Amino acid sequence: MLGGLTVGYGAFASYAIRFLYPANVGKSIWQFVCTLDQLKVNESMAFTMPSGAKVVVARQAEGDSAEAFIALSSVCPHLGCKVHWEAVNDRFFCPCHNGAFDAQGAPTEGPPASANQYLTRFPLSVEGNLLLIEVPVNAVTVPDAGGTA
Ligand code: FES
Repeated sequence: MLGGLTVGYGAFASYAIRFLYPANVGKSIWQFVCTLDQLKVNESMAFTMPSGAKVVVARQAEGDSAEAFIALSSVCPHLGCKVHWEAVNDRFFCPCHNGAFDAQGAPTEGPPASANQYLTRFPLSVEGNLLLIEVPVNAVTVPDAGGTA
């Protein structure tokens, strides 16, 4: 009986520790966005993170390093309208209330500037000819390999 209690409490403690300290908290992976040649200088594209977060990825300079690109939330921090890259004006713009952000996502005009609201920035990296974005592991879902029909 003592052995059974020890095993039972041990299993309970193991589950409790895994619940309190999940292994994937704070970990991230790099997810494919596009090939480098798919974005020309001053072009942008919409990207959806596995979490559902909407991102605008823009190429702001020549070169094949991650510094030539930027990934910012395309959701305006004011009231949530869609922000887009305006290469001509070298800024991100929100048409709802004329909110504007500089090329790095800092607020410059409109309500976001008044409230000092920045666009959230996502880290990018380049691997060969691939542009990658950092994604938290807990936002990635793994498809069920078993499959049920
Ligand atoms: S929602 Fe973007 S400026 Fe108001």
